[in-house]
Amino acid sequence: MVRLIGKNRIKTAVFISGTGSNFKSLIKFSKLKKSPIEIKCVISNNKKAKGLLYAKNLKIKKKIYNFFKDKKAENRILEFLKKNQIKLICLAGFMRILSKTFIKKFDGLILNIHPSLLPKYKGLNTHQRVIDNNESFSGCTVHLVNAKLDSGKIIMQKKIKVYKNDNSLSLAKRILKEEHILYPKAIMKIILTL
Ligand code: GRF
Repeated sequence: MVRLIGKNRIKTAVFISGTGSNFKSLIKFSKLKKSPIEIKCVISNNKKAKGLLYAKNLKIKKKIYNFFKDKKAENRILEFLKKNQIKLICLAGFMRILSKTFIKKFDGLILNIHPSLLPKYKGLNTHQRVIDNNESFSGCTVHLVNAKLDSGKIIMQKKIKVYKNDNSLSLAKRILKEEHILYPKAIMKIILTL
């Protein structure tokens, strides 16, 4: 296992593609005295990602990579992460699947947050599928990232009730609130167990 803990906080990169509310909550967490992480940079495949604005006025570097135009985007990201001594990647609504090579080459931990109770409902449109299947419960999961989509070791989950009158939006909203609490907790947990 990679050594993550020194006397300094773990240098962390957050990968986003959109709203970035998890990124925002991770920034808040990183500023707490007890937090073991320091967010050094935010990486996005979408220059219009709203969440990039949260990096403004903070000492968080912002990097945008166009995966369609730039076939070497992953290599460039790896180089950048190495240069910045990043040891933890938190995927937070990052809508690209990282290649096996990237995962293997990155010298650290990669975490992801997914809005379902994995292993159920991997992939997209989770909330609608949960509603369509009349599930009584749903939730969110923080897991390690491996080469298979939403399949790495589960670190922590939060389960919530699905109400009869829920639609995908109301459910997504309630789960997102829980994600903001779960992600920091899961980071604490994994770092304490290393
Ligand atoms: C979250 O629901 C996360 O679980 C999923 O994408 C959404 C991102 O939301 N992977 P935000 O960009 O953090 O607001």
